[in-house]
Amino acid sequence: MNGKMKETLMKMAEEAYLNAYAPYSNFRVEAAILTKSGEMFKGCNVENIAFGFTSCDERNAIFTDISQRGKIEIKAIAVATESKEGASPCGACRQVISEFGPSAIVIYKYNGKIFEQDTASLLPAAFE
Ligand code: THU
Repeated sequence: MNGKMKETLMKMAEEAYLNAYAPYSNFRVEAAILTKSGEMFKGCNVENIAFGFTSCDERNAIFTDISQRGKIEIKAIAVATESKEGASPCGACRQVISEFGPSAIVIYKYNGKIFEQDTASLLPAAFE
């Protein structure tokens, strides 16, 4: 995957925050997915007043894609937040990314820098 495509994916993730629903944490998180078949999708976090029912952006993006098109194979996923610091995907999202993108590249902003890792290095010894 070339640098331009990675930039496009990160830009697309950054734009998804407009839809995020995060009135409790005020922390909007967004993801954009590129599938192996070349389609792109995005998702954002959706919170709930019963906090435990909050759903992360990565899982929302993945589950929405699959709900609409069936199983996907993730080639790359970019994660961004509204803030400049960024965030890395939580443990639950790493497990879900691993299911649909065992060889995916995960691009995320963390402490203001862009990181790029494959799924296996983000979730060593993933449950299979
Ligand atoms: N959040 C995500 O959307 N993705 C992650 O990988 C980590 C956390 C959300 C959940 C909650 O709405 C907010 O960030 C603060 O935890």
